[in-house]
Amino acid sequence: MTHRAVIRGTGHYLPERVIENAWFEDKIDTSDEWIRARTGIERRHFAAEGETTSQMAIKAAERALQNAGIPAEQIDAIIVATSTPDLTFPSVATMVQAGLGMKHGFAFDVQAVCAGFVFALANADGLIRSGQAERVLVIGAETFSKLMDWEDRGTCVLFGDGAGAIVLEAVQAGERGILAHDLNSDGSYRDILYVDGGVATTGTSGKLRMQGNVLFRHAVEKLAETAHRAIEKAGLSAGDVDWLVPHQANARIIAATAQRMHLPMEKVVLTVADHGNTSAASIPLALSVAADAGTFAEGDVIVTEAIGGGLSWGAVVLRW
Ligand code: UT7
Repeated sequence: MTHRAVIRGTGHYLPERVIENAWFEDKIDTSDEWIRARTGIERRHFAAEGETTSQMAIKAAERALQNAGIPAEQIDAIIVATSTPDLTFPSVATMVQAGLGMKHGFAFDVQAVCAGFVFALANADGLIRSGQAERVLVIGAETFSKLMDWEDRGTCVLFGDGAGAIVLEAVQAGERGILAHDLNSDGSYRDILYVDGGVATTGTSGKLRMQGNVLFRHAVEKLAETAHRAIEKAGLSAGDVDWLVPHQANARIIAATAQRMHLPMEKVVLTVADHGNTSAASIPLALSVAADAGTFAEGDVIVTEAIGGGLSWGAVVLRW
């Protein structure tokens, strides 16, 4: 029997501490005006001292399970997309498993940086379609504030912390659920966005380094292309898309991508102003915030897309 993966519930968690753009003005040479105009970001949340990725992931997961009306006992697998794990190992996903009181099933992390949630979603869909799991918790959770070089104005104003989660459940193939995905990587672009430390090199966790304007050009081109391919694989066309839920890195990238997809901005879910770039957490955060606001109607076609370090990029098309 063929199965489809349907979203049964969403949930998110944002740390209490909100940092407005003006906070940076007496620390580095920047301004609220520059940040808003170039990125669309107005504020972001930063984890508290000692607050970790797994703690945020657990809170988002609990909310998603509650929203779905599905208890943790019924979850078969947990996938966490993150590049900011609490520890090098074990995975954040196994920490979430323990936090939810589960002793059954399996759990693992996916590391595709900002594209992580899209990669995790595609993998969860594969587990469900192949019958290996019936219900999968898919989470994006990050504490990018811990990777910042606070003297680099080109990066430290961009990122924030948070977590978003969804519960996927297998249903007999029908109209709803994940319809198609398109995943891509090209490791020859590693110097465009990377962290300058790691276990096998410096023995430290390092700081984020980014060639922002080079990445900007890749993003605008590659995001529209991958979204287009995923829509085609789903047997749909751009006109069928009800909502774009993009990775929230920069409002200008999002607008340019929407334009290339011939989508009006009214069909785009935007959370970048309030969250900043939360890497792998940005899409599940946006999905959860929009779902809470009643944005999506059953049957709506939703496209998600993201690009991040690697470079890795991709898109998922689903029917709500
Ligand atoms: O999540 C993974 C995906 N990430 C992305 O997709 C990020 C992609 N890149 C971007 O979003 C944009 O490239 C940035 C927001 C990072 C930068 O915007 P930009 O329009 O590409 O600016 P730029 O890097 O070309 O820099 C323009 C100017 C430079 O000054 P000069 O050389 O023209 O004098 C920068 O030094 O803006 C300067 N600048 C700043 N000024 C004030 C860079 N950062 C800042 C800042 N405040 N925070």
